[in-house]
Amino acid sequence: MPAPEPRLWVVDTPNTSYVVALDADDRLHGLHWGPKLTYEQASELELPRTQRHGIFDAQGFPLDLNPASAIRYGQTGLQVRFGDGTRELELRFTAASESDRALELVFVDSHYPLEVRVRYRSLDDGDVIERSTALRNTGDEPIEIVRADSATWVLPRLEDYRLSQLHGEWGSEFQLTRGAIPHGETLIGSRRGFTGHHSNPWLAIDDGTATETLGAVWSTNLAWSGSWRTTVERYPNDRVTVSAGFGHDPVTFDLGAGETLETPVATGVYTEGGFSASANAWHDYALGHVLPHPEEDRPVLYNSWEATTFDIDLHSQIALAEKAADMGCELFVMDDAWFGARTSDRAGLGDWWPNPDRFPDGLGPLIGRVRELGMRFGIWVEPEMVNPDSELYRKHPDWVYHRPHRRRTEMRNQLVLNLAREDVREWMEDWLDRLLTENDIDFVKWDMNRPFTEAGWPDEDDADRLWIDHTRNLYRVIDAIRAKHPRVRIESCASGGGRVDLGILRRTDQVWTSDNTDGIDRIEIQEGLAQAYPARVMGAWVTDSPNPFTRREVPLDFRFHVAMAGVLAVGGDLHEWSGDELARGKELVDAYKEVRPTIQHGRRHPLRAGGIGGVQYVRGEETVVLAWRKARRFGNPDAPVKLHGLDADAKYRDEATGRVHHGAVLMAHGLDLGLDPGDYASGMVRLTRLS
Ligand code: GLA
Repeated sequence: MPAPEPRLWVVDTPNTSYVVALDADDRLHGLHWGPKLTYEQASELELPRTQRHGIFDAQGFPLDLNPASAIRYGQTGLQVRFGDGTRELELRFTAASESDRALELVFVDSHYPLEVRVRYRSLDDGDVIERSTALRNTGDEPIEIVRADSATWVLPRLEDYRLSQLHGEWGSEFQLTRGAIPHGETLIGSRRGFTGHHSNPWLAIDDGTATETLGAVWSTNLAWSGSWRTTVERYPNDRVTVSAGFGHDPVTFDLGAGETLETPVATGVYTEGGFSASANAWHDYALGHVLPHPEEDRPVLYNSWEATTFDIDLHSQIALAEKAADMGCELFVMDDAWFGARTSDRAGLGDWWPNPDRFPDGLGPLIGRVRELGMRFGIWVEPEMVNPDSELYRKHPDWVYHRPHRRRTEMRNQLVLNLAREDVREWMEDWLDRLLTENDIDFVKWDMNRPFTEAGWPDEDDADRLWIDHTRNLYRVIDAIRAKHPRVRIESCASGGGRVDLGILRRTDQVWTSDNTDGIDRIEIQEGLAQAYPARVMGAWVTDSPNPFTRREVPLDFRFHVAMAGVLAVGGDLHEWSGDELARGKELVDAYKEVRPTIQHGRRHPLRAGGIGGVQYVRGEETVVLAWRKARRFGNPDAPVKLHGLDADAKYRDEATGRVHHGAVLMAHGLDLGLDPGDYASGMVRLTRLS
């Protein structure tokens, strides 16, 4: 039967188009991803021609739906194995359905009972395209899923290709690097069971010439918080694709008879205007379509972890809460060690009731006092983990991932609960619900402090599905808790920034950016995170000096100004702060509250002028500049800092000095920040547009 017309589709966003078309063999090609094209214009685009040298170059054309099939030797985004061992797919196009902003293309295998649905969705207020794939087993036998990427993005031909990515480790997350894309396959991902510190699923590609403010950038991300992989492939003929999905090799799992596998959403955005425009497109997307309560301002929280670590009790928490309230903090978060026998990291995880020695009357007295002080109350949990030394583990040793004849490898003295199990999911939902019902809690810091090892499930035939189901059940638990306790807000933490992605952000309100709170290291960490995620989610505590993690001494103002670039919080041992430091801290917390809507919801522009770095946020009439300089070189005076995104014809008043500047001058010449000439100088300037 001839396939239905048409065979070319244009996915439109307000400013861009993504064009796909079928060839005579029903292969789906990505013909365009860039500036907007009408259907008529796109119809002029040609399908790739067969390669010069015939068979040896047959991989030469990049495909948008890229199934493992004959003569495809590179990376393929869809790989299955049928019961008889066949791995090659021969997909036939059967149907397309198009609505206002959504397109679905349906393919079936010419012989085997597999249906593939490829989906595209665009938005009316931004250029991000959302994509996913659904696989349905229409037969009676299971089909083994080897790889099921959410999307393969086909990049246009560029003169060259440069990849920007975020790598890191615990304490140094979100390190931004840019480098040429080599020929062959570049794989980034996580085999750890969670998003990971080591790579973030965000990436960006340009032709090597984009700057912060100029140039075309193609950027992708994946809304998934478990293991993931993104392959960037540069073909011998210099075409490039980006294929992203959940799972990792060598994990495979079964798609049972009649079952449908829905992949997570993969997102991509094409922007002009350099890396800043790309980052702002992601921020707008997160604020407009991802976060559950984007309109809210995040409060200034106080977190007790660095001050007390495991040494906590009612009285010490109250003493800290009193100091935090004096400083103007709005939410007091009690961190680890309030529950079970958790007096160190060796015991108690899994036993989620207040430690009777530390909180003899439960959490009520602490929460009551925190409320009296005018603050909200938050609490730390790590629901996916258990210490072997716990009542939970003694009762349910089979509830953790494990394999027969293998040790159960501990990290931080803990094991990972098998959240793919229904009984574990129910238990988790149940105790979290009870904790939030019995106590007046506004905020949960949801932590996850180790990756999977020996990820087995001996009673389950298709055990590898745990890699997917753990994350799905995590989402289910969080979604259920949110639905039952709509007032509660959640912070995603995994030893700092190990679980920051568009999947978790769909159901949480902010993230713990890094356990490294050093004001200097944070500059880079925050700069990296901001490539993909808005300031509105970026938790940033001001802690002590010297920093407990790096031993570096950094002045209080500098620590504050860097933290004010995100969701400002305080996390130091306030008993150790001098009266002057406490008073200055309060001034800076108050100053932050005044500019908070601009920082948390505004447009972000990175700033640089010689040794000065910083960030500018613009929202409506208000502009906030936060800037810092570690040291001057050779005693040279600071250069003025050129601002961005202002109206050249407007005037702007500096709210501290009353001085009025022309927008044109601020952008073309710059603003003299008047920083202290000494080392570690920093400042904040607030400008209001006058006309
Ligand atoms: C992780 C988190 C920290 C803190 C500790 C508590 O390391 O990233 O912020 O909550 O756990 O054990």
